[in-house]
Amino acid sequence: MASKDFDIYTDGACSGNPGPGGWAAVIMEGDQAREISGHEEITTNQRMELKAAVEALRQVPPGSKVRLYSDSAYLVNCFNQGWIDRWQKNGWLTGKGQPVENQDLWNELLELNNANTVDWIKVKGHSADRLNQRCDQLARKAIAACQSSTETGKAAPGAEGSGESPGPNAGQVRTGARKDNCKLDKSCPGVRRIGLLTGGGDCPGLNAVIRAVVKGATYNYNIEVVGFNSGFRGLVENNASLIDDFAVSGILNRGGTILGTSNRDNPFDFRPGGSSDYRETNNDRSGDAVENLKRWGIECLVVIGGDGSLLLAHRFSLLGVPIIGIPKTIDNDLPATDVTFGFDSAVTTATDAIDKIHTTAESHHRVMVVEVMGRHAGWIALQAGMAGGGDIILIPEIPFEYQYIVDKIMERNHRGKKFSIIVVAEGAYPAGGDPMYQAKGDVKRLGGISALIAREIENRTDMESRATVLGHLQRGGSPTSYDRVLATRFGIKAVDLFREEKYNEMVCLRGYNIESVPLEKAVAGTKRVDPASDQVRAALAVGTSFGAPI
Ligand code: F6P
Repeated sequence: MASKDFDIYTDGACSGNPGPGGWAAVIMEGDQAREISGHEEITTNQRMELKAAVEALRQVPPGSKVRLYSDSAYLVNCFNQGWIDRWQKNGWLTGKGQPVENQDLWNELLELNNANTVDWIKVKGHSADRLNQRCDQLARKAIAACQSSTETGKAAPGAEGSGESPGPNAGQVRTGARKDNCKLDKSCPGVRRIGLLTGGGDCPGLNAVIRAVVKGATYNYNIEVVGFNSGFRGLVENNASLIDDFAVSGILNRGGTILGTSNRDNPFDFRPGGSSDYRETNNDRSGDAVENLKRWGIECLVVIGGDGSLLLAHRFSLLGVPIIGIPKTIDNDLPATDVTFGFDSAVTTATDAIDKIHTTAESHHRVMVVEVMGRHAGWIALQAGMAGGGDIILIPEIPFEYQYIVDKIMERNHRGKKFSIIVVAEGAYPAGGDPMYQAKGDVKRLGGISALIAREIENRTDMESRATVLGHLQRGGSPTSYDRVLATRFGIKAVDLFREEKYNEMVCLRGYNIESVPLEKAVAGTKRVDPASDQVRAALAVGTSFGAPI
């Protein structure tokens, strides 16, 4: 019978040494490909490389011609440089007189090698070879299955011994569900590690960045990503785990952050878990945070955050921690980037709400006041106000006067427009007055200005007025396509900066290009609307009032 020809690609991977390990192979017969994979709970990388080759060769009929491609110099050299012959002659002792490890696998591998004609071919690891890269992915997926089965005490769906066929999300481990059982320090040679956290208020697009960083790092390079849960709290408390590409599968369009976040936790002034008392604690836990980064073997911390989180990141950079910042916030108030991701999604949500408010305002002949977020910058109000055709836009950069608001409403009435839409930023305030806060203990939260304005309009006119606060709706939901793309570009740029070791920078958008700026510039000040900008002029030119004489 004619011998069969196979091209076999193999790879092994481990999450610790010892720790969970995975192996995988792609077996090509002509253009037919078959993938196999599996895992062991306590293993080493070399064992996984051997295991991959043994399991793959078991799949071919004896007498086959096989070209076996592996990125393991150890495996390939053992055959090509006659090491095994020497070990055998030495009674399975190495040149240093030590027993050869994994002898069970070597024995079988030798048998399989002798039963077939095998060419052992060394390939470059991961990105250089598509099928080797595929094996690496499968092996890492197998590790994930191993980790989840260790956690639950039973085999993960689709994993060896589970008796179940792999579903579409087989092997998928969600970050946060897994307390890592792999060793913290790097143990697979050549692997580099990035730490990643999301800090501050959430916004649409955070998951898209996480996905981009993880995929950008693990698909293309030998870089692992450790995710810290719940922002800086996770860094202090070492609540973290490795995130592989399966953990980020299917999250591109999901709002929120799979890592969780916090806009209250400060490692330099750390409050005990669960406490909502935000007074100063004088409890500096930054040392613990730095120690945790070291324990994980992390070379650089990527912080996805707004001004508060990037300020903390900057403080860590001053302690010597290499940092890369990625700007996020619905407020779009960071000075060193043209746009932050999350902003476009928030504006889209607010515009959609204004469109809806429009019809009810028109039906009831009312003045509807829509309050949007943005803190002390009026970007959301300006952009959504313009997109939604707001008649009056009130922003913190232009303190308003009630008389100008009333004048605009009356002018519209005289022209037969018996309703008006006011879009007000939560931080807007009357000239000579102050922004409106809702105090909670020592914490001041912006909010409530729309109700005040609605009441004032009813006092000053004979029209009915209602206030709607959009609040956290603007931070939720699926990111717009613009934000998904921007977030992806930011994430990939962060991986590039890491590879270039260009640290203490924040990625940013300048015109159409993704660039980076020094972190200290990124945290200097707040980007606010310029009342003389062409955007404000355009709004004025179509008849929009800013409630002030400009
Ligand atoms: O910075 C984002 C933001 O949504 C602001 O627009 C808003 O003022 C603030 O966060 C609200 O914070 P919190 O979620 O803590 O109420």
